[in-house]
Amino acid sequence: MTSQKPVILVTRKLPDDVEQRLAALFDVRANADDVQMTSREILVAAEGCDGLLVTPTDRMDAHLIAALPDTIRIIATFSVGHDHIDLEAARARGITVTHTPDVLTDATADLAMLLLLGAARGAHWGMRMIREDTWDAWAPTHPLGHDVGGRRLGIFGMGRIGRAVAGRARAFGLEIHYHKRHRLPPEEEIGATYHASLEEMLPLSDFLLIACASTSETRGRIDREVLARLPGGAIVVNIARGDIVNDDALIEALQSGRLAAAGLDVFNGEPDIDPRYRELDNVFALPHLGSATPDTRRAMGMRAADNLEAFFTGGCPRDALT
Ligand code: DGY
Repeated sequence: MTSQKPVILVTRKLPDDVEQRLAALFDVRANADDVQMTSREILVAAEGCDGLLVTPTDRMDAHLIAALPDTIRIIATFSVGHDHIDLEAARARGITVTHTPDVLTDATADLAMLLLLGAARGAHWGMRMIREDTWDAWAPTHPLGHDVGGRRLGIFGMGRIGRAVAGRARAFGLEIHYHKRHRLPPEEEIGATYHASLEEMLPLSDFLLIACASTSETRGRIDREVLARLPGGAIVVNIARGDIVNDDALIEALQSGRLAAAGLDVFNGEPDIDPRYRELDNVFALPHLGSATPDTRRAMGMRAADNLEAFFTGGCPRDALT
């Protein structure tokens, strides 16, 4: 690195030790208030910067990327998901984009199990009974949730996180099925059944876990037709991105009881989610907490810092996407 430190715009408050490391490496322009910046504010603050450290709340669309100052050579996102960044637009401007895989796999897989179990066992209505003081007595026949062991889990998107959930789900006695574009080698399948098409896997999925990336191919993929192929009483869990699901279709299936329940950590239009989800007693919902532990968030920040440091010392960032 030259004696002049590269100038980095960091769009959100990050864990303290990540900020300390960034400050040692770079001349940091911070967002002290931690209020989400508009595209206009990002453009103004990026003036004179060499790189950006952004998060999933920053929509780096083609328009914004095209308008970035010429000095910007790298965008490092504090996330594994990169659907908020137009990679083609970044490539066209010769901007390197990096993300933070691996370090949030376990935290996100743990949360997937929480959602799966919570949705199956009625955590949402159970907590409501406690909070609203409507629990009058234990009863043999009500209220009841659903068993998990011995049922089938269909995983849509068997990447790092999907595989980590499969490992946990096996321990709960679930039979694992999965769909992804390419079949995994046997040592990574660990007995899971591969389905070359999502449609083929759906009738065998008592639980459907959405764990794929949000891409032009997967956006809106979980629609009425897909949900209609699930067995009656199936449970849908989404830990990926809200835009993979058609909200009208999912809400109708939950309202009608065709689906028994859903466990959702991600939503279309976060944080302004479809208000009908709040009314459904068979929805166990969390506010995008997949990676939300101090150790994981610290590791994500350090990984983003590693990528920036590698880039500015002339190396190749290990998590380069462009
Ligand atoms: C990611 O990293 O993409 C997650 O959604 C943030 O928790």
